[in-house]
Amino acid sequence: MSTRFFDSLIERLIVPSFSNIGYKLRKKNFDWPALDTYDLTGKVVVLTGGTSGIGTEAARIYASLGATLVMVGRNPDKTRLLVADLIQESNNASIHAVIGDLGEHSDVQQIAVKLADRFPVIDVLAHNAGALFNTRKRAANGCDLSVELMVATPFLLTGLLLPQLRASAQNGHNPARVLTMSSGGMYTEPLTVTGLEMENDEYQGAKQYARAKRAQVVLNEMWSEKVSKDEIVFQALHPGWVETPGITEALPGFSSWLSKLGLLRTPHQGADTLVWLSADSEPANSSGNFWHDRAIRAINISAKSRNADTPDKRADLWAWCEKHTQWTSAD
Ligand SMILES: NC(=O)c1ccc[n+]([C@@H]2O[C@H](COP(=O)([O-])OP(=O)(O)OC[C@H]3O[C@@H](n4cnc5c(N)ncnc54)[C@H](OP(=O)(O)O)[C@@H]3O)[C@@H](O)[C@H]2O)c1
Repeated sequence: MSTRFFDSLIERLIVPSFSNIGYKLRKKNFDWPALDTYDLTGKVVVLTGGTSGIGTEAARIYASLGATLVMVGRNPDKTRLLVADLIQESNNASIHAVIGDLGEHSDVQQIAVKLADRFPVIDVLAHNAGALFNTRKRAANGCDLSVELMVATPFLLTGLLLPQLRASAQNGHNPARVLTMSSGGMYTEPLTVTGLEMENDEYQGAKQYARAKRAQVVLNEMWSEKVSKDEIVFQALHPGWVETPGITEALPGFSSWLSKLGLLRTPHQGADTLVWLSADSEPANSSGNFWHDRAIRAINISAKSRNADTPDKRADLWAWCEKHTQWTSAD
């Protein structure tokens, strides 16, 4: 059986693919280069959601690879303490904090201003912050918080930072990379714009999360069609099921069942593809893809979601983002 065929077989079976079985089999069968063989010295990596779970592990690896790492966090003490720890652990002094709440439109604008001011060239922008809210939460502007945090904010931050991202290739570097941490949960929901924010009486946290994560993946493809891959490449990914505070809080039953079976990935395993997409040359050669375990994956696995993903709906999603964030591609 060829290795690729075997990989697509376990992908179809979901559990082996998303659990640590998939990580271990693929790492071995595809002879992955170890992350510590990469060098990010001189690269500016902006990471959201670095103060917990997958993000903290990714931050540790970025720091150890010599990146100039910028941690965007909402809790000043937690973020600054972690930055101090990372500097000490890695002996890399180029680790910085920018503080702001990614669920608040005005904070996101201020974060972008601070980033642009301090870092005129950004090589990697990793949108990792995310959450599943079992009880509905809303941002100050009234938007569903998961949609604000995972759809509107990455869109706005990317839009506002395009000049700094474009500066990466202009400086003779490779194209910049914009990475979006989505979720395999997005497979369960088709693209919807009218239902992007669920009605109060139908609200289900996992469904709402999946809709936002689906929108992220579609926007990733749309960005890649709007911006030349010689300037910036856009890649989305899903990490599999990873043992983190996020999953324990959002899905306690599911995560404890997986944990008892020894199937959850470690944060290091969950962070692997994010860091690999930041550092390896392969993902710099394409744009708009969806990755899992260092390989491109389909974004639709059912006819229902394939049929729902129409050009008109995509245009509506982009228009929704522009109207909601007040940032337009014409800016
Ligand atoms: N764990 C999994 O199995 C899994 C599976 C699929 C996808 N994912 C995705 O992977 C990413 C990381 O998840 P995780 O499991 O590592 O979650 P986590 O442990 O809960 O970490 C989430 C991170 O996002 C930050 N964040 C949340 N809301 C924010 C806000 N309003 N402003 C700024 N930062 C905010 C958190 O900051 P604080 O530290 O301040 O709370 C934290 O750093 C998420 O996008 C998640 O959807 C995870």
